[in-house]
Amino acid sequence: MEFPHPTWLDRAIGYQIYPQSFQDRNGDGIGDLLGILSRVDYLVDLGVDLIWLSPIYDSPFLDAGYDVRDFKKVAPRYGSMEDLDRLIEALHAREIRLMLDLVPGHTSIDHPWFLESSKNEPNPYTNRYVWTHSMYEVPTGTGEGFLQGYGEREGAVAINFFWSQPKLNYGVLQPDPTKSWELPFDHPDVRAVWEEMFDIIRFWLDRGVDGFRIDSAKSICPDRPPLGEGRFYRELRGIFDREYPEAALLTEWGWPSDALKTGIHADFLLHNNLAFNELFSLPGWENGVPAPIFSDQGGDVARFYQHYLPHHEDRHGGLICLMTGNHDYMRCGTNRSISQLKGLFTFLLTMPALPMIYYGDEVGMPNVMGLKSKEGGFRRTGCRTPMQWDDKDGFSETPRTDWYLPPHEVPGERTVAAQVGHDDSLRTLVQKLIHLRKSHPALDPEAPWIPLMEEGPTLFYQRGEGEKALVIVIHPCQTERIIEWPLALSRKKPDLQLSQGVSFRKSGSELHLAPESFAIFI
Ligand code: GLC
Ligand code: CA
Repeated sequence: MEFPHPTWLDRAIGYQIYPQSFQDRNGDGIGDLLGILSRVDYLVDLGVDLIWLSPIYDSPFLDAGYDVRDFKKVAPRYGSMEDLDRLIEALHAREIRLMLDLVPGHTSIDHPWFLESSKNEPNPYTNRYVWTHSMYEVPTGTGEGFLQGYGEREGAVAINFFWSQPKLNYGVLQPDPTKSWELPFDHPDVRAVWEEMFDIIRFWLDRGVDGFRIDSAKSICPDRPPLGEGRFYRELRGIFDREYPEAALLTEWGWPSDALKTGIHADFLLHNNLAFNELFSLPGWENGVPAPIFSDQGGDVARFYQHYLPHHEDRHGGLICLMTGNHDYMRCGTNRSISQLKGLFTFLLTMPALPMIYYGDEVGMPNVMGLKSKEGGFRRTGCRTPMQWDDKDGFSETPRTDWYLPPHEVPGERTVAAQVGHDDSLRTLVQKLIHLRKSHPALDPEAPWIPLMEEGPTLFYQRGEGEKALVIVIHPCQTERIIEWPLALSRKKPDLQLSQGVSFRKSGSELHLAPESFAIFI
């Protein structure tokens, strides 16, 4: 089955903002909505037009806001509902769309639903979460942890991530009668969860939001075949088609061929997917591959294609979202040169996918190492540090010692101030690539994508066909290489604004690739 997506999504350039760390406006050292509002010009100048804002809801912040206490309230530290309205208005006035983060799978342990659900007396919230009948009954092999000994109720409750995030009960396709917590999809208490979530979604869409990034999306589709058929998402898709045809859903699932067949518009390629790791993974991180393509050593594009193509070919009308990174993963700028990052962005912005830039990656911000965990960040904390606007107080007027997290001490050239207006900076290249992507139909996700070389460390592919086709070469590793240049492409010339280290040899039949080189041929 095919599920079309809103046409604006084809040309969209995403940008993820972690609200804590983008821009502080009221001087408390934590980013806020009016801070983002004051940077709208920056976003326009960069050229991005789809903001994904990590959770801004009321929360005890045991998981940086992914533990929601009130789905319909802005956390006071970020501002008010009116501030959000102003931000939406300002973004829309500049043709930028806004996606909020929807966290459907769990709530904070402090959420009123959970406080009710953990009471001994049966009440309308008794089945809202996944509870066993006994505090001692803790199923194993379900892939989920259980919290034992909370509250007065006899039972253990499933958690969706941290102990403080009890799992909502979305039902299963075929309940196992020996598991009392497995309820059918049409159980009234399961329906209540779905309806509650649909209501929350409508609440924000009616306020002008343009869609959602869906947190831990797979966690609410039970894993037993046939994946519960993604029933919740199919129903949600129906609501979108009927009531909000211009809004979009982007899941944190990490397996596009599964996610997109539920009717979701786009799904991230994440580090649970080897296709991502073969490109970007950094040593020491989960599923790290020894030599990804974007490394000094160089990887093998064959392994990337092997894992990526099955998803690309099975998109059901949806899009794969390629990200530079996110608030859970090591920043792409960590241990990578600016030249290598230029190749990485050239790749990201020329693939038949939806690109998503994590704030600060456009200037090559690296992880800040050795930080103590903040708000449940643990080793993720280092990728959540304040935006490197400059090497001074660009993020906040308050003394640095009071900032949400300490900034990089020696940011060097990896700040906005050091790069804006400089012809050879990473940020300037990103800006040019965004412009190219927006103006060139050959880069549309639906336009052909033809890999021209299927192994070795070099990404070499064609986008579009005929006169208007573009050819892209990216050679991120530290060795030189000579590749054969196909005769059929002999009229293509590198765009010097978008190339580095690439030159023709032997009157055009060979291409010499310097270390960390890249080029777009027009
Ligand atoms: C997602 C979020 C992550 C969060 C987790 C639980 O993976 O990206 O930050 O901790 O879900 O909500
Ligand atoms: Ca603030």
